[in-house]
Amino acid sequence: MTPRCLLCLLGSCLLSHWARSSNLNCNQEQYEHGTRCCSRCGPGRKLLSDCTELAHSGCTECEEGHFQAGWTKEKHCTPHKYCDPNAGLVTRLPGDAKHNAVCGCQAGTYCSNADCQTCLPVSACEPGYGVVQKASNYSDTVCVACKHGNFSSTVSASEPCRPWTSCGALGLVMKATGTNLSDVLCEASRSRSSVPVLIPVMAAMAACLVLLIFYWLHRNGLQRCTQKQGAEPPEAVDLVAVPRAQHPAEVHYEEHDERQDFPVQETLLGRQPVAQEDGKESRISEQERL
Ligand SMILES: *[C@@H]1O[C@H](CO)[C@@H](O)[C@H](O)[C@H]1NC(C)=O
Repeated sequence: MTPRCLLCLLGSCLLSHWARSSNLNCNQEQYEHGTRCCSRCGPGRKLLSDCTELAHSGCTECEEGHFQAGWTKEKHCTPHKYCDPNAGLVTRLPGDAKHNAVCGCQAGTYCSNADCQTCLPVSACEPGYGVVQKASNYSDTVCVACKHGNFSSTVSASEPCRPWTSCGALGLVMKATGTNLSDVLCEASRSRSSVPVLIPVMAAMAACLVLLIFYWLHRNGLQRCTQKQGAEPPEAVDLVAVPRAQHPAEVHYEEHDERQDFPVQETLLGRQPVAQEDGKESRISEQERL
């Protein structure tokens, strides 16, 4: 055999194949049966009999609890999916002749995949973490660590991080700062609580002021009185001064250092009694002389 003949054979082979399939130009809603194209059965139906030269394909409805969604040449429909309660599944859509049933997971669980064959328990966020996305049918809870200024004190699958209480907005002051686990502590503001205290304090101060004024007026009146009475010294001073003179042993020195060498006795009995700077004592001396 020559290579040319081989090529001829291959070519005729391909050609004949193409010719045969092009003869049977079945579309997507048909299937090839023998030398002809038979109609497929539509959604909700199944095939009973292939078409013949005289008859179309025989189709019939799916049996109860079965479905068929497309165009088929199958003689059986597919049974609906069973959502097993023992596996934690619930039937979300029951299914019909054209659609499969849809299973879901019981509350507190979510489907492990798109088919929802098994359920997984929904996660809760630990204290210090808040929920940013609650669990859905097909996804778990999404938690995030509470940022500064926010807190979460509970294990929860729904609670987000909450901002710390603004003590100032409540007219309070912060007693203790918050953490990612706990809120700030507020307490009554000091300036506010001192307002009722301020009133008696101010009243007391006013009373003191009045007393001071009275005292000052009274003292001024007394001074004027003594000035009118002249140079007569108060008798009480005599009582003090006399024993001093009579018992020099008891009276050693005056308070001032410069007069340490001059006992009072000497000053009083001596030449001039004017040694003292104190006006009171000079008056005493004057009386002694008289
Ligand atoms: C909460 O704060 C503490 C102390 O600042 C820190 O060690 C911890 O990692 C924080 N937790 C979270 C969930 O961010």
